[in-house]
Amino acid sequence: MSEANPRFWEIFFEVYESLPRQGPGNRACAARALGLCRDLPQAPAILDLGCGVGGQTLQLAELVGAGSIVAIDSHPPSIERLQAAIPERGLARRVRAIVGDMAHPGQPQGSFDLIWSEGALYNIGLRKALDVCHGLLRPGGYLAFTDAVWRRKNPPPEVRAGFDQEYPTMGWLEDDVAAIQECGFELVGHFTLPDEAWWEDFYTPMETRIAELRGKYANDAEASAILDQLAEEPELHRRYSGFYAYEFFVARLPLAPSRPEMIQAPSQ
Ligand SMILES: C[S@@+](CC[C@H](N)C(=O)[O-])C[C@H]1O[C@@H](n2cnc3c(N)ncnc32)[C@H](O)[C@@H]1O
Repeated sequence: MSEANPRFWEIFFEVYESLPRQGPGNRACAARALGLCRDLPQAPAILDLGCGVGGQTLQLAELVGAGSIVAIDSHPPSIERLQAAIPERGLARRVRAIVGDMAHPGQPQGSFDLIWSEGALYNIGLRKALDVCHGLLRPGGYLAFTDAVWRRKNPPPEVRAGFDQEYPTMGWLEDDVAAIQECGFELVGHFTLPDEAWWEDFYTPMETRIAELRGKYANDAEASAILDQLAEEPELHRRYSGFYAYEFFVARLPLAPSRPEMIQAPSQ
């Protein structure tokens, strides 16, 4: 089933929009990454890029306990779902969800203490995203993000094909570390998401949702074929997760200007 088929995306979103998260990650990993941001102010200004339906946005708001979060995603139905959840969680004064493009987020430069992004920066290219974040953070501000990386050479063709489609420029841990440093950040720390972070809020609810929809589409061969295709991803992960990983990176802008073009020549 080709992803050019509009039916594919209809069913894809019927599965994905119902999940607590649209990618790997869990509360414990968010807490661990937040713990690496040691010098955050007590009530930080946070930007969550590519927030999806906001699973991590809401967890982050609860973990931080004060301050504000602007959450941006380009997919309007995900933002609508997050907008509905914010008042239900008593977070209306602290969290704002808006439709937008992370390449042009329309937020004031140098205004954030922390930028968060789980599994989303790759959509505009990691280096481009790092550049955008560099401009939006205040000096000393933190960037916490996850990114997929290869872990073993020569992955099986079906694994390679899945990532080639979704993330053709995916690199290795060292490539991301180099990008972070070359884009003017200091690397504070990084860790690999444990396997349960792929299942808790992502693949387990995905398999449950696919099973539910198999009933709904029992007499619809095209939809059933799309569900088969979507079911392959968790299955491949079961077999081949050793070939790739999601890495959580925490980086920081130096307190002094970090890129040559930012250092003003002294006036004569
Ligand atoms: C893999 S999902 C991760 C969602 C969420 N952060 C999570 O971990 O559950 C990637 C998200 O990036 C969003 N996205 C893709 N390109 C974007 C862009 N240019 N600007 C903003 N969001 C974008 C998608 O709509 C999707 O919700």
